[in-house]
Amino acid sequence: NSLTQDELKKIAAYKAVEFVQSGMVLGLGTGSTARHAVDRIAELMKLGKLTNIVGIPTSNVTRDQAVSLGIPLSDLDTHPIIDMSIDGADEVDPEMNLVKGRGGSLLREKMVEAASKKFIVIVDESKLVNYIGGSGLAMPVEIVPFCWKFTLKRLEMLFMEAGCVGKLRMFAGREEPFVTDNGNYIIDLYFKKDIGDLKASSDAILRLAGVVEHGMFLDMATTLIVAGELGVTRSAD
Ligand code: A5P
Repeated sequence: NSLTQDELKKIAAYKAVEFVQSGMVLGLGTGSTARHAVDRIAELMKLGKLTNIVGIPTSNVTRDQAVSLGIPLSDLDTHPIIDMSIDGADEVDPEMNLVKGRGGSLLREKMVEAASKKFIVIVDESKLVNYIGGSGLAMPVEIVPFCWKFTLKRLEMLFMEAGCVGKLRMFAGREEPFVTDNGNYIIDLYFKKDIGDLKASSDAILRLAGVVEHGMFLDMATTLIVAGELGVTRSAD
């Protein structure tokens, strides 16, 4: 009787919401796992078990979901310090470094989560990796649309030794570039070998003019909740 991946996502999300307290300013993540957490927060609000919650959404999709569920929202301008954020991830390494952004919301996620006193990452066990960026899956980089081919080449050159290939992300099923909530494009980087020092790689990407942000979230997560076939585990805080 094995659980589906979506059921595992929901288990991790519900576990994280157990740590939410009334009166908190909450960063609301984006993606199919975080969606369950937002649903659960709204449910507990309706039951009167959580009161005085203010949500800070990390994308337009999450904003729309929260509005439809009646969660009061605000933003970083008004709440520069967030008590807790809950969000999914695409990859998590043993040090709780993350890759995020396969859903395209990495910039707002990083802004909100970097401003959070606690950042709880919720994943099903398929997201656990030994090295981020080494799984053959995409490492997303948000760039300005201006001369995107030039920026793509510069990114590939940075990681030439790792056999890096960059691809402009397209809207699913359309011949049009994917556009982020901030009006930017996403380049997905694929590596043949691991990229070595993550901090150095992060700095190098961010130094390129034309790059807005990347999907490596280093030293940001404070807690990791993993749901697997054998149950749910939570890292020490
Ligand atoms: C959105 O841009 C992403 O960072 C998501 O948070 C991440 O991709 C996890 O998404 P899922 O929970 O849908 O796997």
